Amino acid sequence: MTERIVLAYSGGLDTSVAIGWIGEATGAEVIAVAVDVGQGGESLETIRQRALGCGAVEAYVADASDEFADEYCMPTLKANALYQGHYPLVSAISRPVIVKHLVKAAREFGATTVAHGCTGKGNDQVRFEVGIQTLGPDLKCIAPVRDLALTRDKAIAFAEEKGLPIETTKKNPYSIDQNVWGRAVETGYLEDIWNAPTKDIYDYTATPEFPPAPDEVTISFEAGVPVAIDGVRVTPLQAIKELNRRAGAQGVGRIDVVEDRLVGIKSREIYEAPGAMALITAHKHLEDITIEREQARFKATVGQRWAELVYDGQWFSPLKRSLDAFIEDTQKYVTGDIRMVLHGGQAIVNGRRSETSLYDFDLATYDTGDTFDQSMARGFIELWGMSAKVASGRDIRVAGK
Ligand code: ARG
Repeated sequence: MTERIVLAYSGGLDTSVAIGWIGEATGAEVIAVAVDVGQGGESLETIRQRALGCGAVEAYVADASDEFADEYCMPTLKANALYQGHYPLVSAISRPVIVKHLVKAAREFGATTVAHGCTGKGNDQVRFEVGIQTLGPDLKCIAPVRDLALTRDKAIAFAEEKGLPIETTKKNPYSIDQNVWGRAVETGYLEDIWNAPTKDIYDYTATPEFPPAPDEVTISFEAGVPVAIDGVRVTPLQAIKELNRRAGAQGVGRIDVVEDRLVGIKSREIYEAPGAMALITAHKHLEDITIEREQARFKATVGQRWAELVYDGQWFSPLKRSLDAFIEDTQKYVTGDIRMVLHGGQAIVNGRRSETSLYDFDLATYDTGDTFDQSMARGFIELWGMSAKVASGRDIRVAGK
């Protein structure tokens, strides 16, 4: 029986050419798998037909947009995950869900190998292959761009020679990856890190310099998950989409960073994540009133570690799973409403309320009627500073000798 290879298919030039390229290089039949993670653009049926037109024996499309929002974006939100303090892991969280569907398709169509279109310089090759090793340890992995020398020039020549139903003329200078959680743009003149991004780079966000009137929004959460916007019930996917629209219109969530890739390269990336950044901001502010201080402090370091693991392709790892359990436990009381104003590139919280809040007005107030016994403070401070005071006494003693 002819060997079968499942290819992660985007519908773009490289993966369209990869269908025939892999076939010629390996003699295998190619099954194209396209996964909808809310990236928008062409319909999945158009993409499916193109795969077949490029020579795939089967084309499988998976609508994973709700699954992606529920099982990948929501854990990212609960972790307030920002890699290096900036990047909400847009591409990093989409790879594991794509891997799930690739492995599923490989089983369904009897494939022995999985292929992806990544180069050998980025993080995504690692995320795909580590994910496949974990979910389908018997499956082999190939990357036509990296392993079968499919360069862009060769891709264009191949497509023209074979008359493939794909546009080869429109030369986009950028490498773009997008889904409902955000959009990543790199390469081209952005590789000079002093160059500011031009307006044409952006798609999810409007220019914040000339914003429309301020937009006040109330986001309701239950156990760390957004469940309503301005009182209207929403699914996680709907919440992200609605905030992409409203925060995007105000230019919220533009990020311009040089980040540390797993492979040791520093690279410049422009991100737009209006919905994700508005949600993370709101969620964090709700945690500020509902999570106990020590748990909150520890959770911040857990969230950072979680972001690094996910960035580094360890979504399916034991440590990531254990950190998920910790984070999930912290979300029990993260229920309530956050009101925020979206305007001019900023999402600023101006109100919060929760039945499970730890904010105690009677303890906090400076007005009469406060229940905090200020006389307790003296003794507390005396003991709190004791250890440092003893040590500093020694410094003086030793210096005096
Ligand atoms: N640097 C990001 C990451 O490693 C995004 C990678 C994909 N970006 C792109 N523009 N193709 O997660």
